[in-house]
Amino acid sequence: MTLRLGDTAPDFTQESTKGNIHFHEYLGNHWGILFSHPADYTPVCTTELGYTAKLTDEFAKRNVKAIALSIDNLASHEGWINDINETQKTIVDFPILADQDRKVSELYDFIHPNASETTTVRSLVIIDPNKKVRLIITYPASTGRNFNEVLRVIDSLQLTDNYKVATPANWQQGDDVVILPSIKDESELQAKFPQGYTVIKPYLRTTPQPDKK
Ligand code: BEZ
Repeated sequence: MTLRLGDTAPDFTQESTKGNIHFHEYLGNHWGILFSHPADYTPVCTTELGYTAKLTDEFAKRNVKAIALSIDNLASHEGWINDINETQKTIVDFPILADQDRKVSELYDFIHPNASETTTVRSLVIIDPNKKVRLIITYPASTGRNFNEVLRVIDSLQLTDNYKVATPANWQQGDDVVILPSIKDESELQAKFPQGYTVIKPYLRTTPQPDKK
């Protein structure tokens, strides 16, 4: 199945290191990141899951639940978590799905047979509280993902869901944002952006981040 932005994230029930997960029920009103890795007991995956564990507080601040997945079995995940905790100096406290029957991998298109027929690729899906797919990324097995970028995208999505703005290239929390071209009315601009705005071109207008603390 091909999953696209805006689709409803497929629901499933699968076993995990935290017991059986009924996905939509588990997410509740949280955001979710569901991410696959090629295999347990491999070096890049060990660093990725360790780094994700270190971001536990950052995900909690943003109301995000993380769930990892590979097609390894539960015993493998449980032994490997000990290695991750030991080597990455952290505590993995999010569930890892044991997708041995590939049910979830097929629903989320995590197996790319021309890359590998026997393992999942390094994919990550961000899901919003309405269960809509908001980001899909896929990396090759040899390249670990940048989880700070995942946080940055979540910040951008949460900001732009609440204000009529978008975030420019390489935007970071606190930087200026751009005003959606659909807002043209002067009184609406003044009401929505009381901190003011700069017109660089009629279609390129910047304003301070509206919810900047
Ligand atoms: C790794 O996690 O290190 C890895 C997994 C599969 C292929 C290459 C690297």
